[in-house]
Amino acid sequence: MVVGLHRNAQVKVDLGAIKHNISAELKRMGKEQELFAVVKANAYGHGIIPVAKAAKEAGATGFCVALIDEGIALRQANLAGTILILGVTPAKDAVLMAENELSTAVGDLEFLQTSAPLLAQAGKKLKVHLALDTGMGRIGFCKQATLKQALDFLAKHPKEFEFEGIFTHFATADAKDESHYQKQLAKFNELMAVVSHKPRYVHVANSAAAMWHDDCGGNVIRYGITMYGLNPSGDELTLPTTIKPALSFESELVFVKQLVPGDTVGYGKTYTTKTTEWVGTVPVGYADGWLRRMQGYHVLIAGELCEIIGRVCMDQFMVRLPRKLPLGTKVTLIGQDGTKQVTAQMAAQYAKTINYEIVCNLSERLPRYYENNGVN
Ligand SMILES: Cc1ncc(COP(=O)(O)O)c(C=O)c1O
Repeated sequence: MVVGLHRNAQVKVDLGAIKHNISAELKRMGKEQELFAVVKANAYGHGIIPVAKAAKEAGATGFCVALIDEGIALRQANLAGTILILGVTPAKDAVLMAENELSTAVGDLEFLQTSAPLLAQAGKKLKVHLALDTGMGRIGFCKQATLKQALDFLAKHPKEFEFEGIFTHFATADAKDESHYQKQLAKFNELMAVVSHKPRYVHVANSAAAMWHDDCGGNVIRYGITMYGLNPSGDELTLPTTIKPALSFESELVFVKQLVPGDTVGYGKTYTTKTTEWVGTVPVGYADGWLRRMQGYHVLIAGELCEIIGRVCMDQFMVRLPRKLPLGTKVTLIGQDGTKQVTAQMAAQYAKTINYEIVCNLSERLPRYYENNGVN
């Protein structure tokens, strides 16, 4: 990926906010609990290495990723501590994971059976976290009998595997209705009944469970979206703690012109001027993750809300300006300008998605600048 270092658009990440959001959670957690920073997907678009380093400084003792390569990138940046791959990994890469001290989620016996001889041959030991599917319907053991087979297999292969953890993931911890969450918790306890020797880590909580079900148990919090200062529920539930959004996204006006009534703007000419209008061009588009469907949404320009007019193009979009504004005027897509704010949540609501998707989508071609390291 080519990073646009010479463009008029950037993502700014306040590492002080990341640290603040971790400290806030550490204060709420039990003494026996550890916080693993979830830094998969380029730290939800914020930048995996700077965020992981800041998280470690703030007290995270481990990391969660989705891919082996993300885990290796953390190790290459000299990050110590547990690195857990939350998704299914190929059994053929078991030795690679062991060599890099990566722990992996395991959701079926086959993975263990296939990887055991490879590990034995290489003389390597792989750390595994058994995934329990208690109602997410994604990965993991959902029956006592199959879980028992995996536990027996691990017990018979102590040279190849370290049974480091066991976990589940809640599907509705961010919802007002608690019934499915309670069902999952009951199923988790039922499955755990066959685990006679508890591993070092037993974990169930993502951000939402940590926020609204802090009695759910476990000794690790897998802390994702709240670390970035965003509410896991959108705005359905109120957070029990004060968090700060870490990411802002800024650009500037690179072209300004006056249109006369009846002029059209953008592909498909989906906007026609009604009066004489000042129109500005912003050098950001859907290739940066600023979705095509943001036509009609508002960004902040010189502290005022301005409508996106016409379709968002691949690298540019147009806005209706309140008056003629100079080239170089700041455009805030996510963040604060003066007394006004446009948030990832507002963009998500407009685009009918979730705040996670807005920040994760921000392309790696946007340069990222880091502020306030050391402050929280
Ligand atoms: C298994 C698992 N745990 C934890 C998380 C972090 O979730 P959140 O960002 O809601 O805290 C995720 C995110 O997708 C996940 O898949």
